[in-house]
Amino acid sequence: MHLLAASTQRNLGMAIAVVAIVGFAIYLIYNVMWAGRREKGSELELAPNRKPYLSDEELETSKLDLALVSGLVTLVIIGVALPLYWLGEPGRQQGYVDDSRRQFTSRGFEQYEERCASCHGGGGLGGTTATSITDDSGNFIAAIEWEVPALTTALYRFSEDEVRHILNYGRPPTPMQAWGAPGGGPLTTQQVDELIQYIQSIQLSPDELQGEVLDGLVLQVRDDVLAANDGDIADQLAEAQEAVNAAGADEIAAENAARELAKVEELIRETSEQHIRNLDSPDRGELLFNNGVYGCARCHTPRDSWRFTGPEEQPGAGPVVLARGSAEEADVVAQLGSLIPAYIPGGGAFGPNLTNQVTLRQFDTAEGHAGFVTIGSEEGVGYGNFGQGDGGGQMPAFGVCVGDRDSNEQSPFYGFCTLEDGSTRPGMLTAEQIADIVAYERGL
Ligand code: HEC
Ligand code: HEC
Repeated sequence: MHLLAASTQRNLGMAIAVVAIVGFAIYLIYNVMWAGRREKGSELELAPNRKPYLSDEELETSKLDLALVSGLVTLVIIGVALPLYWLGEPGRQQGYVDDSRRQFTSRGFEQYEERCASCHGGGGLGGTTATSITDDSGNFIAAIEWEVPALTTALYRFSEDEVRHILNYGRPPTPMQAWGAPGGGPLTTQQVDELIQYIQSIQLSPDELQGEVLDGLVLQVRDDVLAANDGDIADQLAEAQEAVNAAGADEIAAENAARELAKVEELIRETSEQHIRNLDSPDRGELLFNNGVYGCARCHTPRDSWRFTGPEEQPGAGPVVLARGSAEEADVVAQLGSLIPAYIPGGGAFGPNLTNQVTLRQFDTAEGHAGFVTIGSEEGVGYGNFGQGDGGGQMPAFGVCVGDRDSNEQSPFYGFCTLEDGSTRPGMLTAEQIADIVAYERGL
């Protein structure tokens, strides 16, 4: 866009400059060749009561010429200098945009480090925050760690305005508070813009993103893969790890052992990917649904972002965080009983309950259902048979890049969804992945 605008402007300036220079040259040549054709004499006699002024001869030659030439020189300066100035204008505009972006990004980075990194992690890679859950009257129920999403894909799923809305108003009742002035937070409009610019600067490339999504699925099936074939791969892994430990200070042995271990890890990876490919569509959809920041459970399944902590303390590191599904976690959950919501996949949290076949009633066809998951909800745009469309950074868009959705070309943030080669950035999930999730959700 900038390039195109720059070249039109540049061409126009170039054309005007050429016309002015060539025109001036022609004028000069014409004048030099035709100069010296002087007036033969004045037509009027001088009145006797008047002091003789400069003669016509003089007025019409040197005086007039001087005035004309100075006028011409001024005109030429204006005529040539202006187009020349315009020639540099697109570069200056682009330079200003680039400069402001750099400035916004670095100020946003400072804001981020100061106010957000403690939860969202260094570089926006995700983290946790210690918080507590309370009942409706504010009474303490339990201390938990809340899994805080990475921000490195936010602009694939949310438009710039939706991110602004999230920053302004937060996400009650999660630990994400209101940061912008409209929601009563401490940040000015410009500081919020600087943060958005910083978030834009840390977005993953489409390839990195696909890799991350797949990593999340592989991690979920790892235990199954290790247990398959009577634990054959698990035995290989244990052996390789033992060799690494046994190698100790022996450099050559350590190198060999590390290479063996990497080979086994590679085998686990390949087997996992094969395992995932061979799953039935709804089972693969379940993995995608539960895929952390890239999935759906964090908003649609109660307690999905919560990690309970145990009674023991790690020296210097606070309470021990209990793994999801561990026996210790089951104990804590049993103790809390009905004080906390039951962990029902798709049972509803920040996003609505998707169980009891509600999605079948909302969307008549799987295609319509997938269409909604692809583009997400937009402010005031109804969806399905009775969906309201709250917008404001609620249900994200999973199948198309929407960073630019409601910003126009004038916005300094515009252009995130256009890649350098001019093609459009893909969405976070592929159409097949969304079809898998829809197959899973329609069975809930
Ligand atoms: C106290 C911890 C905490 C702090 C500090 C915090 N956040 Fe968050 N933020 C969260 C949590 C938790 C969520 C996810 C809420 C949920 O589960 O839906 C979130 C969600 C978000 C989201 C939406 C991401 C998504 O994919 O849904 C954005 C964008 C965001 N935060 C930006 C920021 C920025 C920018 C700052 C600094 C000004 C910040 N946050 C500070 C905890 C925090
Ligand atoms: C950041 C939180 C969040 C995430 C992550 C999220 N959703 Fe949602 N979802 C919502 C919200 C909020 C709504 C309600 C939207 C509205 O009213 O505009 C919703 C609505 C829906 C609906 C419509 C339900 C109905 O009956 O109206 C479906 C289907 C859905 N989400 C599927 C998904 C799928 C599939 C994923 C994962 C690929 C997902 N959601 C991830 C927050 C989320």
